[in-house]
Amino acid sequence: MSLWKHHEHVEKNSILLLILILITVSIGGIVEIVPLYTIESTIEEVEGVRPYSPLELAGRNIYIREGCYSCHSQQVRPFRDEVERYGHYSLAAESMYDHPFQWGSKRTGPDLARVGGKYSDEWHVAHMIEPQAVVPESIMPPYRFLIEKELRHDDIADHLRANRAVGVPYTDEMIENAVADLRAQANPELGIDGLLERYPNAHAANFDGNPRVVTEMDALVAYLQILGRMVDFSQYEVEDLIQ
Ligand code: HEC
Repeated sequence: MSLWKHHEHVEKNSILLLILILITVSIGGIVEIVPLYTIESTIEEVEGVRPYSPLELAGRNIYIREGCYSCHSQQVRPFRDEVERYGHYSLAAESMYDHPFQWGSKRTGPDLARVGGKYSDEWHVAHMIEPQAVVPESIMPPYRFLIEKELRHDDIADHLRANRAVGVPYTDEMIENAVADLRAQANPELGIDGLLERYPNAHAANFDGNPRVVTEMDALVAYLQILGRMVDFSQYEVEDLIQ
């Protein structure tokens, strides 16, 4: 009963109430925030996650420029329906080199976090030129200009440098070879040994069927094809993932 009496006192004295609220909230804040300073990183490293290759990075810039995130998320949440539809739920490490991340918050179209390897390059090109040609009921707008637009890439090394400045581990060698790696990924005949050494698992191809010019379409498809393919999830059973 005496507790009630004190409580009434606290409730009637707004200054005292305010001070006690501040003390309580600070304790809660300290308990949550202080431990974060004692650990080096909140992201668990996962094998296979690497910085984007120059062509993939250029494609990612186009994805952002065109606002694809306004209809597509890139985050498979750990729920049964999501995991059964898209595959393994997203890991923090998978977007550790994304500046800014593309998790999105709207799904007018499907999640794209695991779209890499789901379709052929030709499918993607046809779909970007005219979505309804491959998915008749699609409401996605066409992006056919991408196949006509040459990709500006004289400044690609600067994009790698900018990402390095915010923590992506691009090496001097990667930056020096950025233009050559970008061209080789869109035209494998130029030789892709260096590219694959620097960016394991990179998918090199004449994405848009035109090896003479590197187009914005080449870059965007290269980016879409690496999404969700850096980590090898084949060793996990989907059933193991859902509790
Ligand atoms: C107005 C909303 C909208 C915008 C903007 C949009 N999309 Fe889509 N997208 C959709 C819808 C709806 C679908 C499902 C139907 C289909 O496959 O076309 C889709 C499907 C896709 C698919 C196939 C996914 C799968 O798993 O089948 C890819 C890849 C894709 N979009 C990429 C993009 C890219 C890249 C951009 C930006 C250049 C973009 N979309 C912009 C609505 C949109």
